[in-house]
Formats: sequence, C-alpha cells, structure tokens
Amino acid sequence: MSVPTVYIVGAGPGDPELITVKGQRIIEEADLILYTDSLVNPALFKHIKQGAVVQKSAGMALEEIVSFMVEAVKAGKNVARVHTGDPTVYGAVLEQMRMLHEQQIETEIIPGVSSAFAAAASAGLELTVPELTQTVILTRAEGRTPMPDKEKLVDLARHQCSTALFLSAALIKKVVDAFFTAGWSADDACVVVYKASWPDEKIVRTTLGNLHEDMRKNRITKQAMVIISKAADERVLQSGKYQSKLYDKTFTHGYRKGVPSYE
Ligand SMILES: C[S@@+](CC[C@H](N)C(=O)[O-])C[C@H]1O[C@@H](n2cnc3c(N)ncnc32)[C@H](O)[C@@H]1O
Repeated sequence: MSVPTVYIVGAGPGDPELITVKGQRIIEEADLILYTDSLVNPALFKHIKQGAVVQKSAGMALEEIVSFMVEAVKAGKNVARVHTGDPTVYGAVLEQMRMLHEQQIETEIIPGVSSAFAAAASAGLELTVPELTQTVILTRAEGRTPMPDKEKLVDLARHQCSTALFLSAALIKKVVDAFFTAGWSADDACVVVYKASWPDEKIVRTTLGNLHEDMRKNRITKQAMVIISKAADERVLQSGKYQSKLYDKTFTHGYRKGVPSYE
C-alpha cells in the first residue's frame, strides 16, 4: 500500500496554462483540493473528479487546515494542497509539512512557476544579463515578519544585482529608501507587475525615483512583483552592448568545437 501523502502543488502565477503537467494531474485526481488564496486561479479546478471538495483556506487557522487534510488522507482520499506560484517561496509550507509528518503523513512538493519569473516574462526581461548582472535576489521588504540581521534590504541592495521583491507593494517607500541608501540612483530601472499572467495584469515600467508615485497612480498596493534591476533599463536592453557569448560565432563550446565551456 502506498504511504499516505499530501501533495503540495505550485499553482503558478495565475494563468491556468502555467501549472506543471504533474500539478494539473494531481489536482484532477484529488478528492480534496485546498487552495490558499485569491492568487490561485479557480480555473485550475475545471476538470476535477466528480464529488471532489474544493475549499479556500484563507481565513482558516493552521491547525484547522492541517486537521482537514489529515482527516481526508486518513479516510483514503487524495489531497492536493495548492499554493500560489512556487510553494517553496514565501509559501508557509514548512509548518504544514511538520504537522503532517507528526501524523505520519508524507508530503511531496510539486514546483510551480513563481511570480518572480512570471513577472519577468510578462515584462520581457532577462534577469541575468552578461557583464551587467548575473545574480537574482528574491526577497521582501521588512513588514511584520522581521528580516534576519544579515538580510536587511539595504545590505542586499548593495550587491546592485537584479532584485525581485515579494509582498512589498504596500511598503514601497521603505524599499526605495533602502535602495537609495545602498547607492542606487533615481533613474535606475524598476518594473512592477500587478497580477502577472492574469487577464487584469498591469505592467508599470518606471525608475526608482518615480516608483512610489507610479504605484500610487496605478493604485497598486498588493498582489504585485517589484523588480529593481539594471537589466530592466530600456536603454540597456536596446543598446546591444550586453549579450551572451553563448551564440557568438567566435566563442567555442562543447557543442561546437574546443573545450567544453557550456554550462
Ligand atoms: C505569499 S507570497 C507567495 C509567492 C508565491 N509562492 C510565488 O512563488 O510567486 C505572495 C506574494 O507573491 C507575489 N505574487 C504572487 N502571485 C503574483 C502574481 N500573479 N503577480 C504578481 N505578484 C504575485 C506578490 O508579491 C504577493 O504579495
């Protein structure tokens, strides 16, 4: 007999075509689908088993959520716990997994497309542009959840790499201050993507100096990804100055000739 398992499924950013094939199959086979909040698109639940229970967990306490899943699994039901984007990023899955494991229930995480990457895709960005920035930081502004001492936004911003900020739309003044303190300038580029991949998606291309005002004008206070990156600067994108050597005729790699240098 297989071990009772709760599948923690990444729903992707919203577009129902942006879930993995595996995630979709698990949802279709589930008897209980418990999904987190309004950034999980109910269109994902169009083709489910007859009689399957679909329930939003927003407003439920952790203990309630877990015991709902435990009861279902112990009754031999298939359970899909559906989280926005990728469950491993700001998913609050750790405590659920721990409590399920205490009840001898296994968990398996099915990855999803995080909103950081969906937002970059919507804005047509490459987050890692050779010789400009080769690192992406996924972080958030400090709110009620304190940031660890070594991860203060101002310190992260000093790296001057591409930064994707979750859960920060309402704290944007703090973000701008931290980036200025870290040495960024007012005309450095930012893109805000509200509800990436949804029909009412909004993309705001702006600068650090105008970020707060442009978000206010567009009434974006939540459900948004803020990307601050030199790679989002239209002038950089159009200059042709920065490009990968991967497709350069003079650059040899393992699939052409010479030493393997393609990673
Ligand atoms: C609790 S976190 C969950 C993040 C999720 N696990 C992920 O990988 O995208 C919620 C935050 O993710 C961001 N977010 C989630 N879905 C989004 C979307 N479709 N468009 C823009 N931002 C989104 C927003 O910053 C939101 O405040």
